[in-house]
Amino acid sequence: MKVTIVGAGAVGASCAEYIAIKNFASEVVLVDIKENFAEGKAMDLMQTSSLNNFDTKIVGSTNDYSKTAGSDIAVITSGIPRKPGMTREELIGINAGIVKIVSENLIKHSPNVILIIVSNPMDTMTYLVHQTTNLPKNRIIGMGGALDSARFKYRLSEAMECPSSDVDGMVIGGHSDKGMLPLTRLATRNSVRVSEFISEERLYEVLESTKVGGATLTGMLGTSAWYAPGAAVSSLVHSIACNQKKMFPCSVLLDGEYGLSDLCIGVPVILGRNGIEKIVELDLSDSEMEKLQESAEGVKKTNALLDS
Ligand code: 2OP
Repeated sequence: MKVTIVGAGAVGASCAEYIAIKNFASEVVLVDIKENFAEGKAMDLMQTSSLNNFDTKIVGSTNDYSKTAGSDIAVITSGIPRKPGMTREELIGINAGIVKIVSENLIKHSPNVILIIVSNPMDTMTYLVHQTTNLPKNRIIGMGGALDSARFKYRLSEAMECPSSDVDGMVIGGHSDKGMLPLTRLATRNSVRVSEFISEERLYEVLESTKVGGATLTGMLGTSAWYAPGAAVSSLVHSIACNQKKMFPCSVLLDGEYGLSDLCIGVPVILGRNGIEKIVELDLSDSEMEKLQESAEGVKKTNALLDS
């Protein structure tokens, strides 16, 4: 199993590290445009292999896509990250051009690749890859919901004062501060609804802090977060590589599901060796459905910027 990660910045390198530590891939290729940067990150990570007990070979490449040839899965993290106070949508101008070129280069060398898009605004970048490549729709996956759901579970665990391994919950909708839809009604602690443990007000606070999870960290760190994004991507890669058929909310092209079409937005999907094995249609309440529609309108507005 060969995995390429384009962008050896903090998110890309964390992702490579988590993939290596899980020890399921034979090779991870890190690509970056900055001379020797990916090679340096790869060497640094390889020097942890005896300490962290992994056999995955990590290779760096300065923009030489021939080294990525035959990749089964490729992750696109390239582009500029958010600075404090910026929205993900403000990155579109620069990132759209980068994501287009990177995806074309990847497909040229690995025609059977499954692409995972991380660059922001992620739902729109995923839609752009659908529009500009001829990859089948099961092989284009946007990473956002898995990260937002991990943040949601963390916030719930904080509120319930329990380990997050006790918590189950999911965030669907667009990967934006306004568009995220944490499904508080369906969240549980060991199968018991979270509303049994925390008040409505506290649950509302959890919901709001989840939605601004990325922005909060950008304000604290001066750039966007990387550990949880890297770990979320590595979980998607793991499920595909090992055909685990795990369910994650991911940004995928909808064609009538949830009454939506012609956009990519976060909904639960099953990830296996074919990429998206299935889109899961939840039985949402009327108000959840309404919020998902609103979120979709926001994503479509950002998508429209691609034309300008
Ligand atoms: C975040 O939410 C990177 O969009 C990403 O942290």
